[in-house]
Amino acid sequence: MRLDYFVANATTLSRRDAKKAISTGRVRVDGQTCRKPASPVDANTPVSLDEQLLSLPAERYLMLYKPDGVISATTDSQQPTALDLLPADVRHGLHIAGRLDADTTGLLLLTTDGQWSHRITSPRVECPKTYRVTLAEPINDLAITQLQQGVLLHGESRPTRPAKVHPLNAREIDLTLSEGRYHQVKRMLAAVGNHVTELHRWRVGTLVLDDSLVPGHYRELTAEEVNSVC
Ligand code: URA
Repeated sequence: MRLDYFVANATTLSRRDAKKAISTGRVRVDGQTCRKPASPVDANTPVSLDEQLLSLPAERYLMLYKPDGVISATTDSQQPTALDLLPADVRHGLHIAGRLDADTTGLLLLTTDGQWSHRITSPRVECPKTYRVTLAEPINDLAITQLQQGVLLHGESRPTRPAKVHPLNAREIDLTLSEGRYHQVKRMLAAVGNHVTELHRWRVGTLVLDDSLVPGHYRELTAEEVNSVC
């Protein structure tokens, strides 16, 4: 990370004031004065400000039960966001690891750790996500096979990756995907001639939405959950 980011995160300074503190020679890296805000450092590099050794706050990881009608964004002037559901002191520095549509409910992960969220969302890692999908029309065997093998989405040239389909009843399936294209579940079901009426994500990697959470509520993840998610 950049030195000014480190200093701003480890102190109460804004990014602008952190840059100023660095360029005026108040910051040492590995014991040497460093005046370049863009210098690369990592979390374990000894960085001091006015001779005081700084340390970064621990990363935070949360699961939130996203209710219907809440958008997966940090701020919005029109609609309530997932971050608005959290107390201000909890919200600070968090971002969303894998968005959901406004009308999709369920498991939303939030963190301060950019590498962790990258692992969850990167197409290379193929971290599976499971959705409970309610359908307008009964699902048929042909559609199940097509979803399992991969379908061509409207306007795209590459079929979706093979998916897992677990029918629960005529109009309800669990669909597990290992990629995250725009509106992917709704578009996959449209591609096989159906229509999604309700969508709920209940699993990401090994993490299952905690059944003690009600919509709008959150809890911290345990260290084991954080380390074993994907
Ligand atoms: N696929 C969708 O269509 N919507 C979501 O919110 C998530 C996956």
